Amino acid sequence: MRLTVTLAACSILAARSVWGWGAIGHETVGYVAMKFLSPKALSFVQSSLGSEYSESLGPAAPWADDVRSEAAFSWSAPFHFVDAEDNPPTSCSVEQIRDCSSGTCILSAIANYTTRVVDTSLSTEQRQEALKFIDHFIGDIGQPLHVEAVEVGGNDINAVCNGEKTNLHAVWDSGIINIFLKAQYSNSAIVWANALTQRIQTGDFKSLTSTWLSCSSTTEPVNNRRRSIEDDINGLVSDATITPLECPLVWARESNAYDCSFVFSYTGFSDLCTSLYATGAQPIIEEQIAKQGYRLAAWLNVLFDGSTGL
Ligand code: ADE
Repeated sequence: MRLTVTLAACSILAARSVWGWGAIGHETVGYVAMKFLSPKALSFVQSSLGSEYSESLGPAAPWADDVRSEAAFSWSAPFHFVDAEDNPPTSCSVEQIRDCSSGTCILSAIANYTTRVVDTSLSTEQRQEALKFIDHFIGDIGQPLHVEAVEVGGNDINAVCNGEKTNLHAVWDSGIINIFLKAQYSNSAIVWANALTQRIQTGDFKSLTSTWLSCSSTTEPVNNRRRSIEDDINGLVSDATITPLECPLVWARESNAYDCSFVFSYTGFSDLCTSLYATGAQPIIEEQIAKQGYRLAAWLNVLFDGSTGL
């Protein structure tokens, strides 16, 4: 019995490690967002999530990873990423039609759940589910390997992290985070989120926040001119029914740029989590988590209060 429980727990942890920021990264995005919600957004979040999630986007953020292995939610697996068919580290790009023509990717998922979370014709349960998906996917889109096709987003690239065999994707999801969380943030998502919030409010992130929100319309469709340059050349068309939104594409491109500037420069390091590779990755991860938390709050504020309020 104990062995079964241990094996079950191990398989959940192993599964999680290949599926987006680990639970800690997602919770931290949610906890940062909670600090910047405006009144109606906060009220919706609290009543929708209820006591099951301590009325907070922090504890609710990992839910989408927890359910994706269940048969009832297997359809949701492709919504956690976009397989950008670029060529890092030489050339990085995300293209709406090239990379998400069928509409089954994180770009369409954010657009879809953005519409659903404010759709009053849906049930309370359906709107809570939409909120939990937004909470999760706005985090995932900030993980550079969630916007990358190469080697299944790095899942098929062998790596060593803190002496253990793993893969590049898991190193970015949780391997490096686990090391600095323990060393600097008492192993706590709340402590980390509080530190990031402080940096946003009064520290080194403060001057970046207006740029972080330069795209904050929850309805602006993907800019057709920019979308079609490459797609026109390749004669690509979309068969998706959900109107793609500009902001998720902007966020994905920003995150994907790190694949060229840093993420794929892993050769020559024997242990990615205890070497200079981790030292270089930490500031990227911290900014991505802080930024996506801030953007999550701004997104919900626009939806429920009509402006970012930030
Ligand atoms: N599965 C296929 N591509 C992926 C990616 N970029 N991230 C996570 N899982 C994936």
